[in-house]
Amino acid sequence: MDKKNKTLGEFIIENQSEFQYSTGELSKLINAIRLAAKVVNHEVNKAGLIDILGEAGDTNVQGEDQQKLDVLANEKFIQALRKREIVCGIASEEEDDFITINSQDENHQNKYVVLIDPLDGSSNIDVNVSVGTIFSIYRRITPVGTPVTLEDFLQPGKNQVAAGYVVYGTSTMLVYTTGHGVNGFTLNPAIGTFYLSHPNMEFPETGKIYSVNEGNYVHFPQGVKNYIKYCQEEEGDRPYTSRYIGSLVSDFHRNMIKGGIYMYPKSSKASNGKLRLLYECNPMALIAEQANGKASNGNQRILDIQPSELHERVPFFCGSKKMVEKAEEFMK
Ligand code: AHG
Ligand code: MN
Ligand code: MN
Repeated sequence: MDKKNKTLGEFIIENQSEFQYSTGELSKLINAIRLAAKVVNHEVNKAGLIDILGEAGDTNVQGEDQQKLDVLANEKFIQALRKREIVCGIASEEEDDFITINSQDENHQNKYVVLIDPLDGSSNIDVNVSVGTIFSIYRRITPVGTPVTLEDFLQPGKNQVAAGYVVYGTSTMLVYTTGHGVNGFTLNPAIGTFYLSHPNMEFPETGKIYSVNEGNYVHFPQGVKNYIKYCQEEEGDRPYTSRYIGSLVSDFHRNMIKGGIYMYPKSSKASNGKLRLLYECNPMALIAEQANGKASNGNQRILDIQPSELHERVPFFCGSKKMVEKAEEFMK
């Protein structure tokens, strides 16, 4: 069959033997994500309308506030993951603590934990700019048959068995890895099917795009300031182009296709930057490495960091390998 016509469902079945654990388990996990992505996509696509309906809703008898899309996305993903007898726990940006999910026999038989940023870039929803969802999947380390614990979630990123994102952009794409490269699938909204549109995605080794919120420039460490100046210098293939959407997923996706570096450094205002290690940086770092790119906190590989808290933050430099290495040099 022509590769371009392959559906996500077919791809999962064809490639599930690559999964280091039971083959059916991977299908269940990705299928749950695929379903939730479609539901959230449907909601994101009518976000402008939801606001209109929300205003009208103020006068209805129930007097309920219109649900914010990130809360809604959170609910949809949790719902989809809960049902499949595969996930024993979920941690989310939208939940203070992790959620325990029991198997049907109430014997804690499920083996995987999922960490999600249900809606990434939520400040962009109101203005019709691309947003995303990020997910990270681990096998639990506590024994099956016992309740999931915090320890199961606080694993270094290199233990991830799968990670991916959905970008709700001009088209909706699901991009994921199970540790055997990165593949991207585009949703055909007319029939609700994802098709393999971007097989074996890879970051160009170097690129010409730098993505950083330069409004924070005065608060950045000197090394970061110097690297930004380097990006702007006229020399060889520089100055680079500055592109910053403000949705990590969308900035990352563009940079992976075109070549570039994404940076969210620490600053005098935020000693660990803004992005969360467990459900933003780790999944993106695994995808980056699987796509021949690199992800670092400035001096250490993101995937090697031992987490100590569910919502901990970490400085993040990610993208084309040579560019991340150059930025690291400046930060030494
Ligand atoms: P979220 O919407 O999940 O809270 O994430 C927003 C993150 C990330 O997507 C984006 O790159 C970054 O925040 C933008 O932050 P600034 O507005 O500080 O640049
Ligand atoms: Mn986010
Ligand atoms: Mn979010």
